[in-house]
Amino acid sequence: MLRPALLPYSRTLGRSMSVLAKALQYEHHGEPLDVLQLVEKKVEKPKNKQVLVKILASPINPVDVNIIQGRYPIKPKLPTVAGSEFVGKIIDIGNEVKGLQNGQHVIPLVNTAGAWSTHTIYQEDQLLAVSEKVGLAEAATIYINPCTAYRMLKDFVHLLPGDTVLHNGANSAVGQAVHQLCLAWGFKSIGIVRDRKEIDVLRDQMKKLGASLILTESEIRTTDIFKSGEFRRPKLAFNCVGGKSATELARHLDHHGVMVTYGGMSREPIEVPTGPLIFKDLAFRGFAVSDWHTKNHDKPERTQMFKDLLKLMEEGKFVGPACEMVPLEQFKESAKAALSFEGFTGKKFILDMNN
Ligand SMILES: NC(=O)c1ccc[n+]([C@@H]2O[C@H](COP(=O)([O-])OP(=O)(O)OC[C@H]3O[C@@H](n4cnc5c(N)ncnc54)[C@H](OP(=O)(O)O)[C@@H]3O)[C@@H](O)[C@H]2O)c1
Repeated sequence: MLRPALLPYSRTLGRSMSVLAKALQYEHHGEPLDVLQLVEKKVEKPKNKQVLVKILASPINPVDVNIIQGRYPIKPKLPTVAGSEFVGKIIDIGNEVKGLQNGQHVIPLVNTAGAWSTHTIYQEDQLLAVSEKVGLAEAATIYINPCTAYRMLKDFVHLLPGDTVLHNGANSAVGQAVHQLCLAWGFKSIGIVRDRKEIDVLRDQMKKLGASLILTESEIRTTDIFKSGEFRRPKLAFNCVGGKSATELARHLDHHGVMVTYGGMSREPIEVPTGPLIFKDLAFRGFAVSDWHTKNHDKPERTQMFKDLLKLMEEGKFVGPACEMVPLEQFKESAKAALSFEGFTGKKFILDMNN
């Protein structure tokens, strides 16, 4: 039984009432299934420029798992509620809030902790209102993966229409975003995925999103698509796997090509091929979207990026990643696969708090 002063917010409209939020909290770093606990937390009525958000959906991203494990440079003060990006609905605002209203859908404008919670307080300037025409799965997952794909396509190499972008982990949420942005912007997206039995199903799914070609890790080793002129040799490659998969990307790069590493799913170090590095003068760069958001918080490029991505989403030209919505309460049972190191999950899990 909930105490009367802490009823769920939808049933409390009194001026001094607080909300009793349900949240996935951890007190120590460790494996998420060991350390996460479903707790109830009192959230006070918003004051001044504060906004009370009812979280509707929040994905389980690899970065969330790494933060909980203590393997990420961002180390939150413990105990803390897990989760970083979300879409929510404003259900109350402080008396100094000018630019946001009750009922609006919002996404974060800051690297947040605490998204795996039914209710959270933010400052007005930490939120961006989004149209309800943008789907919940799209809005909940925009801040990390689509922004990563967008920046990596814009910030490292000046691509021309018809240019090729080569990337591994091409069925990941970032990979799916790369395919869709390449289609929208006129680039050829060639994706590499791990070998698997149902490869044709996966090829079809990725091609529907905009991939020009999907090759397995075995196929990329022997392909002649660049030698034959079928595709331009890539000037830009994205690596989220490492190990030999990264070596293959680098081997196919054009002269002065750039490989941007943004993840290390195999946990193997990147092996760089010596000959191409020397004779093609390759460059190896890294990218972290959380750093980019922090450093560019007030820059027009960031405003433009959200505008572009949200427009594509509203027009149905950019869809959220293949996903399954799971209730917060069933986190442990439903999301084991999302946390598996082996991969082959096939979808992203999104915590569904829209009730
Ligand atoms: N630096 C940044 O700013 C930034 C931003 C966004 C994401 N990331 C990173 O990018 C990566 C992908 O993130 P996401 O949210 O797009 O992931 P996701 O949707 O969960 O997809 C995971 C991807 O990793 C592959 N994978 C899983 N385990 C693997 C393993 N042991 N060896 C090789 N590949 C494996 C999966 O392929 P299978 O289907 O073959 O398992 C899939 O392509 C993560 O490392 C994440 O931390 C970094």
